[in-house]
Amino acid sequence: MSKNADTLAQAIREKAGDAPVQIGLILGSGLGHIADQVEGVAIPYTDLQGFPHAGVSGHNPNLVIGTLEGVRVAVFGGRAHYYESGRGDAMRLPLEVLKALGADTMIATNAAGSMRAEMPTGSIMCLSDHINFSGLNPLIGEPTDARFVPMKDAYDPAIRIALHKAADAAAVDMHDGDYAWYSGPSFETPAEIRAIAMLGADAVGMSTVPEVILARFLGLKAAAISTITNMAAGMSDEAISHEHTKAMAPIGAAKLEKVLRGYLRSLA
Ligand code: HPA
Repeated sequence: MSKNADTLAQAIREKAGDAPVQIGLILGSGLGHIADQVEGVAIPYTDLQGFPHAGVSGHNPNLVIGTLEGVRVAVFGGRAHYYESGRGDAMRLPLEVLKALGADTMIATNAAGSMRAEMPTGSIMCLSDHINFSGLNPLIGEPTDARFVPMKDAYDPAIRIALHKAADAAAVDMHDGDYAWYSGPSFETPAEIRAIAMLGADAVGMSTVPEVILARFLGLKAAAISTITNMAAGMSDEAISHEHTKAMAPIGAAKLEKVLRGYLRSLA
């Protein structure tokens, strides 16, 4: 844990109280609504020295610490993507801070394109695994042997079961699938989508994978849910753009919110 993370965690506790955080939620494009429902304190990233700029539109770069469904959470309203800075470890400090605040779990959400006809726009998908199609890794340069992180069951099996229980209880149809990380910021070509579909990926996006690797490195349990905002390139005539992503995210976000709230209730 870096000294900076401990210092930031202390500053956050002074603003938001000492009670340890249990779970961190990272919100993807157009999925910021849930942060507004947390009873607690919002701290702008700009007040947290070293936090990423997280300047992608559709993100709200605040850290909200408080209670949701009776569980103490830290909600990261914006994430930094590799494509913003060329740094694969852009989310390392926020996740170190999450750990220093006492959390044992990180749940990431994202917007993604679907490669499966039966998983159209508006669906949600619980990640069972990922394919790091970017070839990048947030732990490049980490000098300790801790960098050799095992990635089997990186998406915690028990949390996935609990998320599915919450989805069933809320009558939300949640798919399971493998997510391919593509660096962005340009979208994929249809040929790339055909290639990753052939490799076994069910959805594609520009985030989450580095965060899950970092979470496992830090000893946090990890899980992630995608909201499908479009069929991946070449799979349909649907337009693919960031505007479209933001416009479509709320459809899946309503389902995602039910699942996350139900999951948190099951822990409280
Ligand atoms: N590709 C990559 N990232 C995305 C997509 C996509 O089709 N949709 C939303 N985020």
